[in-house]
Amino acid sequence: MLLRLDKYLADMGAGTRSEVKQYIRKKQVLVNGIFPKGPEQKVDPCKDQVLFQGTPITYEKYEYFMFYKPQGCVSAVTDQRYPTVLDFMKEKNRKDLFPVGRLDLDTEGLLLITNDGPLAHNLLAPRKHVPKIYYAKIAGNVSEKEVELFAEGLEIGEKHPTLPAELKILSCKEEPIQNTWISEIELTIMEGKFHQVKRMFEAVGKHVVYLKRISMGPLKLDELLQPGEYRKLTDKEIQLLKESGQC
Ligand code: URA
Repeated sequence: MLLRLDKYLADMGAGTRSEVKQYIRKKQVLVNGIFPKGPEQKVDPCKDQVLFQGTPITYEKYEYFMFYKPQGCVSAVTDQRYPTVLDFMKEKNRKDLFPVGRLDLDTEGLLLITNDGPLAHNLLAPRKHVPKIYYAKIAGNVSEKEVELFAEGLEIGEKHPTLPAELKILSCKEEPIQNTWISEIELTIMEGKFHQVKRMFEAVGKHVVYLKRISMGPLKLDELLQPGEYRKLTDKEIQLLKESGQC
């Protein structure tokens, strides 16, 4: 695969396409030790050595980031009203990154950000049943009755009931400030329907007051990340993700 030099550098976050063109004209780029003819020069990412301001730049076709989505930003590439998850990424000079799936504006937690379309497609395909685990706080007392109902599958206004979901009750205590009972739960779902967790609780007459995704397939939210922070996936995580999308 041959690539234009300006695309190569822009994809790798050296700058926007027009910034990169300037760098090339100002002789800040070398290809195999020679100043390139221009931004349109073709390079072979497997063979050619590209040096930008003295630093070698290796081309990565696909990149994978674990992002801790904070509340108040949207899982989209652009938005008129709210910051998007990509606004948090320094690598956003790379124009082809996107979030895999959606978390609501007020949901936080694990979001995979990549430019690997085939992998995203596989992870999101309903027939793959990739498990997603959420931690949530629910107003009121969640009981074994709900555990059974969730395990059977619930009518949430879709064509079919939800697939069986595993509900674990972690605690139930009275919140000192509001004087209301709050249950902490963990829920594993095998689908990703719109507002699914909230709609499942609404279906049993309960309301989600806080929601955080803690895992998706083999990927677990890194405890070292703070809301708004991200890191590259490790090779092992990428391999596990690809395997989970295949089955
Ligand atoms: N389910 C929801 O209701 N909201 C989310 O953001 C994710 C799952």
